[in-house]
Amino acid sequence: MGKRTIVALPGDGIGAVVLKEAVRVLDAAGFEAEYVYGDIGWDLWCKEGNPLPQRTIDLIAQHKIALFGAITSKPKDDAVAELAPALHGKGFTYSSPIVGLRQHFGLDICIRPCKSYKGNPLNFIRRGTTTPVEEPLIDVVIFRQNTEGLYGGVEWSNPPAQVYDALMTHPKFRENFGWCPKEELAVSTRIFTKKYTERIVRAAFEHAVKFGYKSVTVCEKPNVIRETSGLMWKIAKDMQKNDFPSIKLLNTNIDAQMMWLTKNPEDYGVIVAGNMFGDIASDAFAGLIGGLGFACSAQFSEDGIGVFEPTHGSAPKYADFKVSIVNPIAMIESACMMLDYIEEKAIASRIRKAIATVIEEGKVRTYDMMKMAGKPEVIEQGAASTSQMTDAIIACLK
Ligand code: NAI
Ligand code: MG
Repeated sequence: MGKRTIVALPGDGIGAVVLKEAVRVLDAAGFEAEYVYGDIGWDLWCKEGNPLPQRTIDLIAQHKIALFGAITSKPKDDAVAELAPALHGKGFTYSSPIVGLRQHFGLDICIRPCKSYKGNPLNFIRRGTTTPVEEPLIDVVIFRQNTEGLYGGVEWSNPPAQVYDALMTHPKFRENFGWCPKEELAVSTRIFTKKYTERIVRAAFEHAVKFGYKSVTVCEKPNVIRETSGLMWKIAKDMQKNDFPSIKLLNTNIDAQMMWLTKNPEDYGVIVAGNMFGDIASDAFAGLIGGLGFACSAQFSEDGIGVFEPTHGSAPKYADFKVSIVNPIAMIESACMMLDYIEEKAIASRIRKAIATVIEEGKVRTYDMMKMAGKPEVIEQGAASTSQMTDAIIACLK
């Protein structure tokens, strides 16, 4: 295949730092691509009043595959305060460009694998029954519905009259919230549609079959959030019965799942959840395999657009270090997910093997792997810099 064109979206803070490192690894591994760079993030908001300009949307629409670093997001009022003075009072309102991107392109399927690397000093351990310490190998893949639910953006403070009146038709609303003046109400909706709930659940089952996982766990809260969590659970039950009888279907509530996490994480395989609970579960499982420095993700749409990003944010407190200390592995792993997606599996596999070798050898470790507080001094204290970690991975490519 000829040269691919990849849209590179560095974003803010450490997003830009780690994206550069991922591109270095891709080049070294022989992935032939041209990168076209797109603007996204906080600077764009401050300067143009739009953190996701149309020109960036056009680039992604044209080339279909994007690597994304991370962006900085801030609450509404802080955002307005940082807008360029000339843009004040012109009706610009801030919303997260990555959430916007997911919705614009319908990137509804989000996959977040959490697999422990042998020799990672951050791997989860627990007191054993037969040995003093057990280190269960975690191999969990979270399927997060990426466009609906609590991240759908359908929300109001002081809702318009029609919305308020509609809410008042619900007996529970009247009973429990009817006392509250409209202007003092804040409402965020949790919308699940059958179509996209089915898509994420089916994607989870298909992944389980393809990669030999024994179970799919729906991690929601259908006993309390009856309509939306209930919809996902019902869809999963029917789908398992009709289409995936060989895969075991489990049901955990998100709160209980957070507890089971440290008791028996090895019992879980594929987990499927709505947007918010998927986000929570994926950060929680990432904690068992080394934290955000190791947590990668892929997201794609029905029509094949794919955006690949580490799940961490822009970590502004580390962004301006003269020598960057953050761990590039989450971003490099996200690039591997991109390679899998575009059928460059052999290159992905070589990069993953190189990462595994560096981790197992244990000679090169970023500050997080050494359990240090993130300060510039960590380099003098023996931690590898971001680029030294990348160099080590490149050196192990075979
Ligand atoms: P964060 O993920 O940026 O950082 C939290 C902490 O995790 C850091 O202080 C650091 O200790 C650790 N960490 C993150 N990435 C690491 C890496 N590669 N290597 C080693 N340690 C790492 O989350 P935070 O501080 O809550 O948010 C910072 C900004 O990022 C906010 O503006 C937030 O809105 C945004 N954000 C953006 C996301 C995105 O672009 N997809 C996702 C999450 C947060
Ligand atoms: Mg998150």
